[in-house]
Amino acid sequence: METVVRDLMTSPAITCASSDSLTEAARLMQGAGIGSVVVTERSKVVGILTERDLLRALATDGDADCEAVGLWMTARPDVLSPNERVDAAWSSLTAHHYRHLPVVSGDDLVGVVSLRDLMGVARIRPAAEASVDAPGGLEGVVVAETSVGDVRGQEGFFHYRQFSAIDLAEQRSFEDVWHLLFRGELPDPAASGAFREAVCRRRTLPPGLSSLLPVLAPLGTPLDVLRTAVSVLGGELGWRPTRDIGPDELEDQALVICAVVPTILAAVHRLREEKDPIEPRDDLGCAANFLFMLTGQVPTPLHARAIEQYMILTIDHGFNASTFTARVVTSTGADLAAATVAAIGALSGPLHGGAPSRALDMLDAIGTEDRAESYIRHAVEQGDRIMGFGHRVYKTDDPRSLFLRSVAESLGGPLVEFSRAVERTAVDVLSDLKPGRQLYTNVEFYAGVVMHTCGIPREMFTPTFATGRTIGWSTHVMEQASHNRLIRPSARYVGPPPPQRVPAQP
Ligand SMILES: CC(C)(COP(=O)(O)OP(=O)(O)OC[C@H]1O[C@@H](n2cnc3c(N)ncnc32)[C@H](O)[C@@H]1OP(=O)(O)O)[C@@H](O)C(=O)NCCC(=O)NCCS
Repeated sequence: METVVRDLMTSPAITCASSDSLTEAARLMQGAGIGSVVVTERSKVVGILTERDLLRALATDGDADCEAVGLWMTARPDVLSPNERVDAAWSSLTAHHYRHLPVVSGDDLVGVVSLRDLMGVARIRPAAEASVDAPGGLEGVVVAETSVGDVRGQEGFFHYRQFSAIDLAEQRSFEDVWHLLFRGELPDPAASGAFREAVCRRRTLPPGLSSLLPVLAPLGTPLDVLRTAVSVLGGELGWRPTRDIGPDELEDQALVICAVVPTILAAVHRLREEKDPIEPRDDLGCAANFLFMLTGQVPTPLHARAIEQYMILTIDHGFNASTFTARVVTSTGADLAAATVAAIGALSGPLHGGAPSRALDMLDAIGTEDRAESYIRHAVEQGDRIMGFGHRVYKTDDPRSLFLRSVAESLGGPLVEFSRAVERTAVDVLSDLKPGRQLYTNVEFYAGVVMHTCGIPREMFTPTFATGRTIGWSTHVMEQASHNRLIRPSARYVGPPPPQRVPAQP
């Protein structure tokens, strides 16, 4: 049966006369534990006095003992009928910012209804349940503890475990950093060799997935196909929910997924070009092997190292959107493939990992150095985002961008010089048109330049990002699974007030 005002009003209402003093009215309210008192003359409603009115009166330094209620009440207030539906009552209260309304039948006062009564029946939030409002983009909200790594935005610093990620990219191999993430320590030479071998053994595609890739490859972007392929991989290898397996089994799956993702992507790229996939080579490191499987050529050491350093820098980066996604999915107890598929989806967005090819498209569109300022000014004035600039956390230079800029400079070439010029112009124009926003290049700007210079095709930029980031996702999945709690926040309902009658079918 539909809830009407009569069902939830407070009755009888507490009343006073307009000649009563504010002190008397306040005592009535306090005694009954209510926030308003209805003012009547010969049992007819003539006004309503609320806590807000009392506060206004107090602010004037008047004497509450002498001030009459009639002077401070809201005269001739809106009223509700006891038969009125709850949603109509809700609209009356919220539209006028009332917190209490008298309920009147004919001319007689029969009760009073408050916003709190309506919220209770609408079950917007049980009165006893504590809630914390977080900002829309969750910036600054700590949602977990992690020992994987962190980003210090103001300092322009990020780290994996206890080491600066930049130092790691300068000094160690991709596999050693992978070992650090998975096992919590950098390997000694023996452990490093054994880990490399373990990775190599897991690079080959399982037969079901391998036979399906020619069908999947043309059906979407490489990242779309990767999403589907990872799903197939988990199914084919029979991966069970993280909740049902131990840490060793999960780490083995994580090794497989990180080893196999570059093989999937390279195969997809070649199939899309109507070329045969190339088998992985055991004698090449991850980055060199990836370039080899993409192009069929063993890369120069300079190119292999540049891509390796890019891949190290993109392994992990705090609670970014895709990492958080992977952890949310893991928190449900779902399997590693499910968490990775979801993370790939999050990464694909242009506000996350989808930017490097767009940054290069922008460089193409600018064409020459002398056009940079007018292009960027026009774009920003139109409200467009300059791809490869700005970051949610870094409000200074993104250390990955600085490092990749130096990598790009070591590779040399006209694109690198041109990008430097565009960067300088964009930073100036952005600081002019968006003062105080601290917009500098992010990882994506020079990533595109480095990848392009090393022969990676544009549509493989974000997929290459995914090859490194899979290690970060997997590490977070393992951490989440090791001390899991379902991630299940709340939202504030702001739609039309429920419950409303479902209209009869016409
Ligand atoms: C990365 C990004 C999504 C972070 O955004 P955010 O933290 O949500 O920042 P906001 O959207 O609140 O932006 C703050 C202000 O800076 C401006 N801004 C941010 N990035 C900008 C960019 N790349 N170009 C132009 N203006 C930008 C916004 O327009 C906004 O201006 P306003 O205050 O006048 O409205 C954003 O910088 C962006 O869209 N960059 C381009 C895409 C990109 O490079 N993505 C890769 C990320 S690694």
